[in-house]
Amino acid sequence: MSMKQSFVAAVAAIAVLGATAVGSVFAAEEAKAPANGHKYPSIEKTSADAPKQFKMSKEFMGQVQKLPPEFVQQFKKMTAKHTRYSEEATARQVMMELLSDVQCVTAGLMVENGEMAADCAIRASRHRWPKGHLLAYVKLDQINVDSLSALPKVNETVEGGLERTAEFAIKKDFVSAGAEMGKVLSGCSTCHSLFRFGKGESPHIVE
Ligand code: HEC
Repeated sequence: MSMKQSFVAAVAAIAVLGATAVGSVFAAEEAKAPANGHKYPSIEKTSADAPKQFKMSKEFMGQVQKLPPEFVQQFKKMTAKHTRYSEEATARQVMMELLSDVQCVTAGLMVENGEMAADCAIRASRHRWPKGHLLAYVKLDQINVDSLSALPKVNETVEGGLERTAEFAIKKDFVSAGAEMGKVLSGCSTCHSLFRFGKGESPHIVE
C-alpha cells in the first residue's frame, strides 16, 4: 500500500467509526425530543408570539417617537403577517435565513418542484422579526418618514412578489414564477442600497 493509499484507508476507518458514534448520539436526541415540547419543523412555534421589550437607547427612542402615529399604524398594518419575534437573532441572521429560503425557491423552480418553491416562498415572505425589530438595525438618521416611505413599495415587491411566486409555482407556471422571482430579487437589492451599510470590511487593512 502506498502512503497515500494507507492514509485514505485510515481516514475511511475513522469515518466509519465516527458515523456509528454520531448515529447513536442522534438516536438518543430523537428519543428525548418530544419531551421538550418543541414541534419541528414549524414556522409557528420557533419564535415568541409577541415582541420582547428591550431597553433601547435614548437616541433611538427619540427618532422613533418623532414618527407620525399614522405612519406607524400604516407600518404595523403592512407587516401584520409577521407574527414570530426572535429574542436572539440579529437582522443579519434573519437576512441569512431569508437568503436561504429564497435560494430554496429558485432551486424548486429550476427542477419544477412547485410545492417546494411555494413552501419556501411563503416562509420567506413571513420571515421572523429580529431581536428588537428591524428598525433597530437601520442608521439613526434614516429613521424618519422621508427615508422609510420607500418601504411600502419595497415590501410589495419583495413580500407580495414571494406570495405571487408561490401561487404561480403551485399552478406549475414556472415561467411566470421565475419572472416574479426576478422582481423579488431586485426588491432585495433596492432595500440594501437604501438601508444596508457596512459589508464587514476588515479594520486591519490600513491601505
Ligand atoms: C426592508 C429592507 C430589506 C429588504 C426588503 C431586504 N433586506 Fe437584506 N438586509 C437589510 C439590511 C438593513 C441589512 C443589513 C443588516 C445589518 O448589517 O445589521 C441586510 C442584510 C442582508 C444580508 C447580509 C449581508 C451581509 O453582508 O451582511 C443578506 C444575506 C440579505 N440581507 C439578504 C436579503 C434577501 C435575499 C432579501 C430579499 C428576499 C433581502 N435581504 C431583503 C434590509 C433588507
